[in-house]
Amino acid sequence: MSMETLSASIASGQNLQSILRENRVFSPDAGFAAKAHVQSLEEYRAIYARSIADPEAFWAEAARELDWFQPWSRVLDWKLPEARWFVDGKLNLCHNCVDRHAVGTRSEKTALLWVGEPSDEVRRISYRELHEQVQRAANGLKSLGIRKGDRVAIYMGMTPELAIAVLACARIGAVHSVIFGGFAASAIADRVNDAQCVAILTQDGSWRRGAEIPLKATVDQALAQTPSVKHVVVLRRTGSAIAMQAGRDHWWHELIDSVQPVCAAEPMDSEDPLYILYTSGTTGKPKGLVHTTGGYGVQTYLTTKYIFDLREEDVYWCTADIGWVTGHSYVVYGPLANGATVLMYEGAPNYPDFSRFWKIIEEHKVTVFYTAPTAIRAFMKWGDEHVERNDLSSLRLLGTVGEPINPEAWMWYREKIGGGRCPIVDTWWQTETGGIMVAPMPGAVPTKPGSATLPFFGIEPDVVDRSGNPVPAGSGGLLVIRRPWPSMARTVYGDAERYRKTYWSDVPGCYFTGDGARRDEDGYLWLMGRVDDVINVSGHRLGTMEVESALVAHAKVAEAAVVGRPDALKGQAIVAFVTLETEHSKPESLPALKDELKQWVTQEIGALARPEEIRFADVLPKTRSGKIMRRLLRELATTGSIVGDTTTLEDFSSLAKLREDEES
Ligand code: WTA
Repeated sequence: MSMETLSASIASGQNLQSILRENRVFSPDAGFAAKAHVQSLEEYRAIYARSIADPEAFWAEAARELDWFQPWSRVLDWKLPEARWFVDGKLNLCHNCVDRHAVGTRSEKTALLWVGEPSDEVRRISYRELHEQVQRAANGLKSLGIRKGDRVAIYMGMTPELAIAVLACARIGAVHSVIFGGFAASAIADRVNDAQCVAILTQDGSWRRGAEIPLKATVDQALAQTPSVKHVVVLRRTGSAIAMQAGRDHWWHELIDSVQPVCAAEPMDSEDPLYILYTSGTTGKPKGLVHTTGGYGVQTYLTTKYIFDLREEDVYWCTADIGWVTGHSYVVYGPLANGATVLMYEGAPNYPDFSRFWKIIEEHKVTVFYTAPTAIRAFMKWGDEHVERNDLSSLRLLGTVGEPINPEAWMWYREKIGGGRCPIVDTWWQTETGGIMVAPMPGAVPTKPGSATLPFFGIEPDVVDRSGNPVPAGSGGLLVIRRPWPSMARTVYGDAERYRKTYWSDVPGCYFTGDGARRDEDGYLWLMGRVDDVINVSGHRLGTMEVESALVAHAKVAEAAVVGRPDALKGQAIVAFVTLETEHSKPESLPALKDELKQWVTQEIGALARPEEIRFADVLPKTRSGKIMRRLLRELATTGSIVGDTTTLEDFSSLAKLREDEES
């Protein structure tokens, strides 16, 4: 069933039977289960039942596994949509991720195992060394006058210093705003200005697929529009020549060499902000989701421990960039709070060849591997021979995140990467949820290819219609969460009303995820994609509005409507319908203009938003009230024709014209 049909059926109050049926079930391997944190379905169900009967008791017990400088007085204050977890508690997440492991048995254990892209450059940083480095970086930031509550933007590549930068901010209570290294200058400026960041931490450049990405030069462009930024700290990574502005720009190595190696971790209130991370919504500019300290720390810690079933000797590799929420929660905070060895790889999976990931797994004996469906589909396309050359027998658990995984890719992942023996944890969650919400407990819950299965402890998802009534098993509906959870985002930075409206008003009393889902007879959840205008390209969320605004900002464009169309590799691909200012609509210039517009979007937002296809139209189909009917455009982009309901359309001829364009 397409998302379009799903939203349409939900909107009209009908429930649809899903067409997709997947009957394979894989029970946890007995050997795996025997050593797992949760060893059977009965045990999972018993703990889950307890966690739902008394969530506060459950989460309080979990929170006691972290170090607190001062205990909380109440576990939860909840007045929709405002949650406060571990009220009055004081802690520091850098302390929990680093300091407590830097003393005692883990001090010489590798915390970060870093692999550079260009050569087989490897750095191993123990917890003791990490402790020293985050303290130096923290003192370096302080020496620039950066204090608790200040916002600091981080625009770096996947170097150990990126993780160190994040932790150093957490240590002094500065709120980090990590901006993915693929974003363009204007996207950086928007984010920096929204949060009024006082500093940007960056690198000269970063390596990707053998080429250098000029990060500092891009920051320099953004800096022309970001008056709040007083300091730029630059890590030397590639050694390329860059411009350094005296007084404003500082070299990372000079900064940390000039300070003391001891810096106490700031006691943070449980509800003090930890970071802001921007994500796409349906309308307007990206939202800065604000995550706080205590609840976020507890849930990322606990989900990492249980869902990846972490053991002391694991070599854990989550391939996400720290620029996305997956990198925040499952490269940095979750695994380090558990004292794990975290592998970080700087570059691309296909550099210098298609077997780079598998070589890394073989060489470093990776045991837990967490990646995205879009990557898995790319590996499948590149061919099994690139996998088969390597010994992947160290792997014991696999995970996926970011979009629904199709059963075919799931099966391939299980057989080719997991050797048929590793459990797969398909983890459903969002930037807004902060931590994993739905995923199989690997030693306990039988898996079905394509299903994220059952909720994590303390989480109560439901599948409902627009009025909040649960739909019957097997029917499609809206995925909601019925009660607050510790790692939920607390607000949209500077716009509490947008937070309430976007997440807590669609379905009465519930958090609305924006995703469609179906629950089967066993209570398993099957995610069906977004029901709104968010496009998921290779696991990256993009709002149609953002791409449209970029297009309309081009001098030749009058109007634009952007939709997602299913794509075998990327999940969804972007199709843009564009009308031009009349003086530019001469047919001979159109093919070149398509390329120009694609390039324009790349320059405005970043390559991740580049439209796959641009179609020119004389007019866009609109309702009588003037809303562009994306539903029709989506249908046209996907199937090549329109059979859906067009009765609310204002100008029928617009559709005929679009079809003509299609044929020409
Ligand atoms: C989608 C990434 C199906 C979903 C952690 C969600 C998934 C959006 C899954 C959040 C999954 C993420 N199965 N869909 N296992 N994981 N999604 O904020 O549409 O970048 O709403 O967070 O990705 O994307 P975000």
